Amino acid sequence: MKFFIDTANLEQIKEAQALGILDGVTTNPSLMAKEGINGEENVKKHYQAICEIVDGDVSAEVIATDFEGMIKEGEALAALHDQIVVKIPMIKDGVKALKYFSSKGIKTNCTLVFSAGQALLAAKAGATYVSPFIGRLDDISTDGLNLISEIRHIYDNYGFETEILAASVRHTMHVIDCAKIGADVMTGPLSSIEGLLKHPLTDIGLEKFLADHKKNQ
Ligand code: G3P
Repeated sequence: MKFFIDTANLEQIKEAQALGILDGVTTNPSLMAKEGINGEENVKKHYQAICEIVDGDVSAEVIATDFEGMIKEGEALAALHDQIVVKIPMIKDGVKALKYFSSKGIKTNCTLVFSAGQALLAAKAGATYVSPFIGRLDDISTDGLNLISEIRHIYDNYGFETEILAASVRHTMHVIDCAKIGADVMTGPLSSIEGLLKHPLTDIGLEKFLADHKKNQ
C-alpha cells in the first residue's frame, strides 16, 4: 500500500519524506487555506515546493466546477511539474474532465467520492486514483471502511486499473484496516503514519535491553 500524506504543510511533508516511506502528497483547497497559501501564483509555487520535497505523486485540486474551467486549470497545474496529479471533484463535468485528462495521459485523482456508484463512474472515466472519504462517512455514522471494501470488490470484478486512494483517513486503525481490505493507497495526517510505530511493549523492551547492556559495561 502506498502512503500519501494529506497536508500542505511543508515541515510535515519533509518529516514524512525523511522517514523514507512516503509515496506522495494529497492537498485540497481547505488544506492550502490552513497553511495561509492564497492567490493563484502562490498556490502554484507551493505545489512546486511540495514536488521538490517528495519523489511521488502530488495531487493538486482544481477550483473550477465547469468542464472548460477544469480543463484549463488542470492543464496549467499539470504543466507545473511531472509529479502533479490533477484532482477533480465527482460531479458531472468532473467525470467529463476525468475522461479528457485520461485521453491526454494526464494523471487524475477523483475526489469527494462517497459511494460505490461514484467510484464505478470514476473508473469508467479512466481516473488514475479514486478518493473515497472514509472519515467523513464515519462522521455521519456510515461505515467508511465498508465503502473501501465495496470499491475493491467492484474494481477486482472488472480489473479496473484506477487505484483506490483511501482518503479522509483520521487515525492509525484506519490505515491498518485499509491495508487489510487492500486499498492501493492511503492518505492521512502525519499522526496516522507515526501511530503505526508505537507499541508499549517496544518501549518497555528497548528500555530493558539498554538497562541490561549498561549492567554489563
Ligand atoms: O483527503 C481528503 C481529506 O483531505 C479530507 O480529510 O479529515 O477533512 O475529512 P478530512
